[in-house]
Amino acid sequence: MSNYINPALTITTDKIDSGKISWQTPSNIAIIKYWGKHGRQLPRNPSISFTLNNAFTKTTLAYQAKRNGEKGINLDFYFEGKSNPQFGAKSKKFLESITDIFPFINQLDFSIHTDNSFPHSSGIASSASGMAAIAMCLCTIEKNLFGTLQEEESFRQKASYVARLGSGSACRSVYPTMAIWGKTSAYAKASDEYAVPFIEELSPVFKTFHDSILIASRGEKKVSSTAGHALMDDNIFAQNRYTQANQRFNDLLAILKSGDLHAFGKIAENEALTLHAMMMNADASYILMRPATLSLIEKVQAYREATKHPLYFTLDAGPNLHLLYPDEIRKEVKKFIESELLQFCENGEWIDDHVGSGPFELKIKN
Ligand code: DP6
Repeated sequence: MSNYINPALTITTDKIDSGKISWQTPSNIAIIKYWGKHGRQLPRNPSISFTLNNAFTKTTLAYQAKRNGEKGINLDFYFEGKSNPQFGAKSKKFLESITDIFPFINQLDFSIHTDNSFPHSSGIASSASGMAAIAMCLCTIEKNLFGTLQEEESFRQKASYVARLGSGSACRSVYPTMAIWGKTSAYAKASDEYAVPFIEELSPVFKTFHDSILIASRGEKKVSSTAGHALMDDNIFAQNRYTQANQRFNDLLAILKSGDLHAFGKIAENEALTLHAMMMNADASYILMRPATLSLIEKVQAYREATKHPLYFTLDAGPNLHLLYPDEIRKEVKKFIESELLQFCENGEWIDDHVGSGPFELKIKN
């Protein structure tokens, strides 16, 4: 497998034209969670996620020839219209870390304008959609300047590889519907280095699945995912957790093919609670769920018991509850959300999302 280090991606022309590229890239919600990593952003266990549709990042990356004599990376970063030094520093560090993959980064100055359709740092994976968007933009620059990555598959695979280096979960956001990341005996094509799509084998019921994201709290997370992964290194349950994740991955793959919703929900919910159990068991321990998260979980369990509808939940590394359900019960679930769940959401906020068709390039006037 190529590590994508490529000195040939250096601009050799005297005059470098400036350019602007824009991508809309969705967030994703993992069913089997990536939690624990090693080396250069390599996962401790395989993970699989649904690609979302309405929770997305729009990123426009503009570049021009580097001003003479200046060393280091020049990046102006704007988030929702305003200069954002914190996100800027994170993105600059990311660009610096991949100059061996894209040497042309050292020859250009950049500005990035980015907007999210959802509140950042509230457990909706803004780093996933954000880093995937930057990766898509960089691969597009490569394609435009060097004529490489013409084939869709090679473009996506490299974008996924690069996105992974920015944020692990981001590598799954480059594909529609579902994506697998991490080596597993259950899926020969899967890799630790990049995600691969999981679509053809998927039962139709999951291709139109819903994810209604209930915002239990918009507040910033106390502990970032990156810090959370690091705490797994000393977690006494870590090895058992990785074994469990592998086993569940195998089981889930069969379930995703057969369309067994009950079995799907059982794994999805247990994965979410295991993820948070790992946080509570860490040294130092922390809790990202809020009282409203637990109230919402109890409501969902009671609703399922009473109606027998296949309504399940998962959680990201945050307080917000993701409701997972098939399209055929969308009307009933919407009524249930509005009448019984919104009271637990901050400012009554929720995102009505569903499985999406992946990132796409936005046309812009240069
Ligand atoms: C709980 O991908 O945000 O959402 O690689 O350090 O950027 P970094 O972490 P990140 O971790 C996401 C963890 C998760 C589970 C998942 O998406 O698989």
